Amino acid sequence: MKSAFALAFAVLLLAAPSALAARRLQQIGVELVSAQIAPAQYTVSAFPLYSSIPEFAADQAEFSTFELALNLTGLIDSVSDSDVAVTVFAPTNAAFETFLAAQKLSLEDLLDSDYLMPIIMYHIVPDVLTTNMMYVGEELPTLLANTNLTVAAATPDSNTVYKILSENTDSSAGIITNMNNIVAGMSLVQAVDAVLVPPMSVLQAVVQKADETTAA
Ligand SMILES: *[C@@H]1O[C@H](CO)[C@@H](O)[C@H](O)[C@H]1NC(C)=O
Ligand SMILES: *[C@@H]1O[C@H](CO)[C@@H](O)[C@H](O)[C@H]1NC(C)=O
Repeated sequence: MKSAFALAFAVLLLAAPSALAARRLQQIGVELVSAQIAPAQYTVSAFPLYSSIPEFAADQAEFSTFELALNLTGLIDSVSDSDVAVTVFAPTNAAFETFLAAQKLSLEDLLDSDYLMPIIMYHIVPDVLTTNMMYVGEELPTLLANTNLTVAAATPDSNTVYKILSENTDSSAGIITNMNNIVAGMSLVQAVDAVLVPPMSVLQAVVQKADETTAA
């Protein structure tokens, strides 16, 4: 069973990304990075093998808030092709609840916020990264321009594989054990236990730029 998954995964990852998929990602300022992963370098999750990120999101009720955010921002279209190769750090619904409670926000507040788009972009890395390939200290550029996430050691006893650090020192998330390396087309989903918040300076700059564009 495991090797059948592994084989399908390798075949999917080695397929060339389509020009259309590349163009879509470039539209949001990203170069598509093709994945080259040797079969020995990853373990495959116990999740079904999904053909795309939307298919994963629709199937797994625990990620419905993230799905809603992908829908509302339109980022769902950027990651919908089965040959788009990205890594998505997908916060669980529980992660969103914790985040909203801490920020004293309602879900509607967040979904209406100009910050939603940059926050969701901060969870998507234009490269395919299994947890086996990650290493402590690795910097992962995200779809949000000029931002990186950083891989750190998991918090002991936290049921996580790695900790992902935001450049915002108040924000980090753990990649949840047994919810990592979920195959979605050529992409991977790494479920995380917290919402990653970009630095406030970056959020404010993005929103200000959007306002100026609207005003112009
Ligand atoms: C997101 O959009 C898809 C496609 O339109 C839809 O099927 C799905 O129900 C939406 N998800 C949420 C959580 O609204
Ligand atoms: C992000 O990481 C890359 C690769 O390590 C590095 O070249 C770049 O300067 C970093 N960018 C920021 C904004 O820290």
